[in-house]
Amino acid sequence: QQDNHILPKDFPELKNDTFLRAAKGQETQYVPVWCMRQAGRYLPEFRESRAGKDFFETCRTPSACCELTLQPLRRFPLDAAIIFSDILVIPQALGMEVLMVPAKGPTFPDPLKDPEDLNRLKVKVDVTAELGYVFQAITLTRHKLEGKVPLIGFSGAPWTLMTYMIEGGGSPTMSKAKRWLYNHPEASHRLLRQLTDVIVEYLFEQVKAGAQALQVFESHAGCLGPVQFTEFALPYLRDIAHRVKAKLKESSLDTVPMIVFAKDAHYALEDLAQSEYDVVGLDWTIDPKAARERTGGRVALQGNLDPCALYAPKDKIGETVKKMIEDFGSQRYIANLGHGLYPDMDPEHVGAFVDAVHTHSRGNCK
Ligand code: CP3
Repeated sequence: QQDNHILPKDFPELKNDTFLRAAKGQETQYVPVWCMRQAGRYLPEFRESRAGKDFFETCRTPSACCELTLQPLRRFPLDAAIIFSDILVIPQALGMEVLMVPAKGPTFPDPLKDPEDLNRLKVKVDVTAELGYVFQAITLTRHKLEGKVPLIGFSGAPWTLMTYMIEGGGSPTMSKAKRWLYNHPEASHRLLRQLTDVIVEYLFEQVKAGAQALQVFESHAGCLGPVQFTEFALPYLRDIAHRVKAKLKESSLDTVPMIVFAKDAHYALEDLAQSEYDVVGLDWTIDPKAARERTGGRVALQGNLDPCALYAPKDKIGETVKKMIEDFGSQRYIANLGHGLYPDMDPEHVGAFVDAVHTHSRGNCK
């Protein structure tokens, strides 16, 4: 209860700005590193904190989100924290029910089936009222981080959220959601626009609450080809970066670096590098040198170790990381995995990854 009094002001001074410097294209002394899903079930303390508690109930409890966000930072010298939450809080804010079913994953009991179902969604979402718990978690965590590292806020991208809202959960083909694109293109655009409007407000409020960088997860880009990505994903991703930055400027707030992670969207690399994002996140299927050539120094790059590389012995992880840093180069680069950590990963191997990034980039930076 006393946390309600914590306000988004007088935050502790930032002690490690390496991640923010790399994201903004400024010189760094070493390569900063963080991991997608760094707060997660691979940590015994995470499993313990979450034990017996509903996932979304945890998301709605700012003190729990703060604790889970800080856990990986107590173990590893990471260069950024990412707020513990989930991308599916947006469909919830639009009025949809979403459950996290153990061993199954996110589940929508009543997904969107036809364009008429769009009428079930709230027309006007009061983001502060519906998602205030996320902003409170961010503000609390900014204070509790004590300026150790910057705090990243995030959102799902419109297409990825649309897939969940129509599929009702995970899907190998996304064929129900893709059916909309081919059969109901206008309704698809209506939904994507509606999501975009909420996401813009949501990300802006996260920065007001204390987020120092933002990542937009287009995790389901891979099931689209270039033509559909260009029509149904890219314009909304661009609009989000443009409008969030414009709103921050209008409100005289400092801008923050924005990262776009469109998983498996190789074909869109040039376009993403020319949108208003500062950083393009890469999955492991893209060659770092080719990515540098194709993005031509316009953006910083983030990624892209195959998460499964962490199953290798620790010295092997070191070798792989060394090669990755040589290929990306040590400037305008944020080391990360190409997707999130899996629950069966060994925390010691995650530590070996983080240490290898620092060891192999220190003294190597020009
Ligand atoms: O540490 C972090 O990265 C921050 C927290 C975070 C979570 N979800 C916590 C979480 C972030 C950034 C997300 C984003 C998210 N959620 C994405 C985009 C990133 C990606 O993986 O592509 C997606 C697609 C989701 C939807 C979602 N939430 C899925 C597919 C799952 C996994 C379900 C399962 O059973 O494995 C979740 C649950 C979830 N979100 C967990 C965590 C730590 C694990 C469930 C738990 O703790 O009980």
